[in-house]
Amino acid sequence: MLRIVVCVSGGGTNLQAIIDSIDSGKLEDVEIVRVISNNPNAYALERAKNAGIEGVCISPKSFENREAFNEAFLEGLKEANPDLIVLAGFLVVIPLNVIETYRGKIINIHPSLIPSFCGTGFYGLKVHEEALKRGVKITGATVHFVDEGTDTGPIIMQKAVEVKEGDTPKILQQRVMEEAEWIILPESIGKIAKEKK
Ligand code: GAR
Repeated sequence: MLRIVVCVSGGGTNLQAIIDSIDSGKLEDVEIVRVISNNPNAYALERAKNAGIEGVCISPKSFENREAFNEAFLEGLKEANPDLIVLAGFLVVIPLNVIETYRGKIINIHPSLIPSFCGTGFYGLKVHEEALKRGVKITGATVHFVDEGTDTGPIIMQKAVEVKEGDTPKILQQRVMEEAEWIILPESIGKIAKEKK
């Protein structure tokens, strides 16, 4: 059984995709042991609760300084004893102590075809705004391992999505989620679970 912790900041549709894949039996030998949010109001925490998964909030705002938060975040991960940490729309830069402790065991979903539209400042809707501004005809999503850089780690899976005439950032974001993110994130976790067997 691959024990995963899923880290979230917002709506949690990618978390939901993982939960649904486990429930439907598509994703085997994987258990979500904890959901961690930096945002107490994240709807993702509601999704965890509805699925009977432990959800905890570890917010930088509750700590005196960044170091204290980094320590608490690492503790929050360690307590759950995960084999894999999944960043599913987690908008906190992963501290070095966590990367060093879990090297090769952290993955992230990014809403573009890396190396396009990634790196510092490219997150959420912003990614799709920039893709539309540049006028690309194809975009997509990438699942990759997390290292010290921003969106620089080895790529696990990518899926292309068509940009259509009249797309707004929101319409494109939804299509990228439906046609790419919600598919390749559970698939990547499944691939890692198989390799662990
Ligand atoms: C997703 O589109 C994810 O790819 C993106 O945030 C969204 C979270 O949605 N992540 C990043 O931009 C990371 N750089 P969700 O909370 O509904 O899963």
